[in-house]
Amino acid sequence: MDSHTVLYGVIGDPIRHSKSPIMLNRAFREAGINGAYGAFHVTPDRLGEAIAGIRSLGFRGLNVTIPHKIEVMKFLDEIDEGARAIGAVNTIVNEAGRLVGYNTDGIGYVRSLKEESEPELAGKRIVVLGCGGASRGIVWALARENPAEIVLTNRTAERAAELADTFGAEKGVTSAPWESLKELCAEADVVINTTSVGMSPNAEATPIDPEWLRPGAVASDLIYNPLTTAFLKGAEKRSCRIHGGLGMFVYQGAYAFEYWTGQPAPVAAMRGAVLESFG
Ligand code: ATR
Repeated sequence: MDSHTVLYGVIGDPIRHSKSPIMLNRAFREAGINGAYGAFHVTPDRLGEAIAGIRSLGFRGLNVTIPHKIEVMKFLDEIDEGARAIGAVNTIVNEAGRLVGYNTDGIGYVRSLKEESEPELAGKRIVVLGCGGASRGIVWALARENPAEIVLTNRTAERAAELADTFGAEKGVTSAPWESLKELCAEADVVINTTSVGMSPNAEATPIDPEWLRPGAVASDLIYNPLTTAFLKGAEKRSCRIHGGLGMFVYQGAYAFEYWTGQPAPVAAMRGAVLESFG
């Protein structure tokens, strides 16, 4: 670090668990970029001040995590079309004093799904478990891949119906009852868990019985702590292809790196840095 170092960071509350500094600092080192990335604990009442600080200190980029992804939008100068459709920002690029908000969660997820498990999503039948904050960006990015259908399900049915409505049946997005999952999964090519079921410390829990999956289908879980969930373990026994949540985390960071630097992200090194930090 010297007086030319370009500054980056992540803001959230809490933030000390974040693996982003380890991942992005490794990326800068690997790419030979003189950048430094820190983690900043910002409470909701200081969000506006934090963004003003980014401007005055001339940070080039910022990641934004829970609970600021929605509120931060009002402090920015421009919101990218995708982030606007999703209604949340996780990446800010400082374009010579103009702060532009993007959302790389959904596109990061889809890039990792395509590179790691299913290169062709066009024409596929996709079932999404859970319609919380995490699923919105994913559904938006999946809809751009022209799948045959995306069926949204949620324990609380209204949330699934609401989210399906915001995308619309003309984009192939519909909702179905949580109770119909057994039948839906039997027909699905890709089943994605976006719920918190199976997250550490409740690692034994699974959102659906993996026996419902079609052998050969892709089972995908957004959870990356633990790296392999009970849902994925069951799916593997059922001869499904499995896709863990680490890829989404790595690729949302990879897109942020690419937006900030204009260079391809050193994805393998980034993934390695996160895996090492898990021990
Ligand atoms: P996130 O922002 O990570 O998506 P969230 O908005 O709190 O978090 O959403 C959590 C998701 O997990 C929701 O879809 C939630 O379902 P409800 O809308 O019915 O609450 C889902 N979820 C949590 N516990 C669940 C459980 N035991 N069974 C099924 N779904 C569950």
